[in-house]
Amino acid sequence: MDKPHQAMPDIEVLPAHFPIPGMGFLPVNAFVIKAREPVLVDTGMGGESEEFMKVLGSIIDPKDLRWVWLTHDDADHTGSIQKVLEAAPSARLAANSLAVLRMSMAWPVPMHRVYWLNPGDSIRMGDRKLTAIRPPLFDNPTAIGIYDDKSEAFFSVDCFGGIIPSPAQNADDVKEGDLAQGMISWASADSPWVHMVEPSEFSQALDRIRQIAPKMIFSAHLPPARGKTEQFLKLLARVPTSTPFVAPNQTALEQILAQTRGGN
Ligand SMILES: [Fe+2]
Ligand SMILES: [Fe+2]
Repeated sequence: MDKPHQAMPDIEVLPAHFPIPGMGFLPVNAFVIKAREPVLVDTGMGGESEEFMKVLGSIIDPKDLRWVWLTHDDADHTGSIQKVLEAAPSARLAANSLAVLRMSMAWPVPMHRVYWLNPGDSIRMGDRKLTAIRPPLFDNPTAIGIYDDKSEAFFSVDCFGGIIPSPAQNADDVKEGDLAQGMISWASADSPWVHMVEPSEFSQALDRIRQIAPKMIFSAHLPPARGKTEQFLKLLARVPTSTPFVAPNQTALEQILAQTRGGN
């Protein structure tokens, strides 16, 4: 994992990155919202679970957590979910019902601690209201982002993610061209259905975020981005008609393995 940092007065980022051979790095972020009822947003990658729990403990005593908001049940978001729920006995698990039911196929989710959310639902966290928002792009039907009315930040799940040349603390630290290229190819790779969508219909989904006008975008897969909402919405508007992403095939894997062997 990378060094955690405070991105807004009461929002901490727990950043990690995942190398994508031949392409760069995919940031993988979790967040702590230091609301009156503190919230952990997502729980990192399972392979780094021990480190994740250490980093979390350096930001907040897990016993003080009141909520764990799981944006969806993909493996890069649920890595430490069981450990967190054990370490945070006062926390409830806020997630879409389908995410909870799917996870319960793999481990015994404590249903009495669960809070089921659909897009549009809100939870009051004492000093703020968090509202579940479906992001314009998503790779999982259970995806629910968060709009925080106090910080005016949007936690956008996988949406607005991007593969970047090297890990960075802020989106401003990534060259504009690299950011645009990385975001467009990630959007196509992570939400391939976007190429089947009428651009005009898709722009309505983008407009819903435009109306909310978040000051900060906290994607799970991009460094925090302040004041970039309009720029990012314009970028995503290009995705339905962009060249669809094609995943590396066996020939590519053999090349990567040959390079790795050559480097040893
Ligand atoms: Fe995902
Ligand atoms: Fe993800």
